[in-house]
Amino acid sequence: MADQPKKNDTANPVAKDYYTKAGKFFEENKFDEAIDYYGRAIAEDPTYSSAYFNRALAYAIVNKYDLAVRDVDRVLMIEPNSHDAPYVMGVICEYQQDYQGAKEWYEKSLKVKPDYDQARSRLEQLRPKLDSMQGPRPLMDKNNNVPEPATQGTVSQDGQLKKVKWFKSNTTFKDVVGMEKEKELIYQNIVLAIKKPDLLKAYGKKLGLGVIFYGPPGCGKTYFVRAVAGETHSNVIIANINEIVDMYAGNTEKNMHAIFEQARNAIPCIIFFDEVDALGTKRDGGGGESQSFMKMAVNQFLQELDGVEKNPEGIYVIGATNQPWDMDPALKRAGRFGESIYIPPPDYKTRKQAFILHTRKMPIEKLSFGRLARATIGFSNADLDAIADKAALIPAVEEDRTGRKRKIGMRDFLSIIKKQGNALDEWYGMVAKDIVSKKEVQVVDGKRTEIVKEGKLTPEEKVRYSALVKDVKRNNFILYKWAKKFIRYFAWYIL
Ligand SMILES: Nc1ncnc2c1ncn2[C@@H]1O[C@H](COP(=O)(O)OP(=O)(O)OP(=O)(O)O)[C@@H](O)[C@H]1O
Ligand SMILES: [Mg+2]
Repeated sequence: MADQPKKNDTANPVAKDYYTKAGKFFEENKFDEAIDYYGRAIAEDPTYSSAYFNRALAYAIVNKYDLAVRDVDRVLMIEPNSHDAPYVMGVICEYQQDYQGAKEWYEKSLKVKPDYDQARSRLEQLRPKLDSMQGPRPLMDKNNNVPEPATQGTVSQDGQLKKVKWFKSNTTFKDVVGMEKEKELIYQNIVLAIKKPDLLKAYGKKLGLGVIFYGPPGCGKTYFVRAVAGETHSNVIIANINEIVDMYAGNTEKNMHAIFEQARNAIPCIIFFDEVDALGTKRDGGGGESQSFMKMAVNQFLQELDGVEKNPEGIYVIGATNQPWDMDPALKRAGRFGESIYIPPPDYKTRKQAFILHTRKMPIEKLSFGRLARATIGFSNADLDAIADKAALIPAVEEDRTGRKRKIGMRDFLSIIKKQGNALDEWYGMVAKDIVSKKEVQVVDGKRTEIVKEGKLTPEEKVRYSALVKDVKRNNFILYKWAKKFIRYFAWYIL
């Protein structure tokens, strides 16, 4: 009897042939072709688990996480005792910033193979991220008492149980690359108030309640909140607006109140309202039931803010939004949130520094960081994070297949940069309609008339958010788009 193929191999020579070709494409960073050929191998032998496995890696590299997860699921069905399938699942979770999920998958992998170093070291690297998401170590309250642990982490009110996410952060301004101007503004407007309230009071300066961070997605708003928390040793409550707003009468107000109560028990405390524009009525403007619950949330929020304002007690509120013009007008009124601080996309110098930082602990060939920075003009910090991480995967997968070690080189980075693309180009296009006024020509009864379609912004908002408005306009300006493409292509293909 012929040898049974190993579960991760195939007895079908045609499938094997496709698989080998796919592997070559993978090595040349041609992931779409690799996916195609792994698919052919799978069509020939639907139990070919290595083909599913490698196709999952290729999908993950080109950001098709759903498809990657589906393939790893197949591997797990064929090989329930695989140690590297759960490992890859963990990596995919990490790409999607699901750190808890990643942890569970790495642990699963280690259960099957306790000496699996890769999973262990991933798990270790994950630890700071997980720690920062867990509840704060109890701090002293106003009366120097440690608050009751029972109240940590949950808001419990009249049978309602809402999870409150806490974190304490080790990130400080030192971990924030570039952004010197923004760091300075944030230091003056919030860090100083938390760290040295007496200094400000001595000069008759009001402490203020907090700030709004606004700017394009993935450029560091949440990251800056972590940095402020780390700099000031504050606790942070992440207030999720969708969880606060509740359709049962009175619960929305209770939830909001409970969050501020929790904050009072763990000062100094920052309450972080991510996507604070969701807390408002301006967004869909249509009225209706959900609108009225939102309105209640806003009213309670304003009441809570007023309460804090009257007796400053070490509670600060930071709101973050990509679309500040969608915020409820009542929230924008002066005094409530003191400053709105623009967190811009990383400039050339920042991108260069980001690559230097990300590759500090990687085995790299000599890299041209300037070229990488040019190749990623218009990319967000989140894009840069993902690029560095994915570039490291290429030689790792190669070594797994061939047993040969090699350093991470320019070509790995460039191929991922080309594949990865960036989310900002599209985002700028999407928000343009809110901001940019457009001239349209209409022909009525044979007459041509020009109508100016105004964006959503009021003249006051145009001034207040001028930095963002300028960025959106520039990035929708056709010549600038061309220039960006030209600079990228030059760096990708030439020098
Ligand atoms: N200045 C920076 N220095 C180093 N890393 C940064 C910096 N800014 C952002 N990052 C990295 O980029 C990632 C994305 O940033 P962040 O989550 O803060 O974006 P965001 O502005 O909150 O986006 P969104 O609007 O989508 O919530 C962070 O996890 C962080 O690792
Ligand atoms: Mg964010």
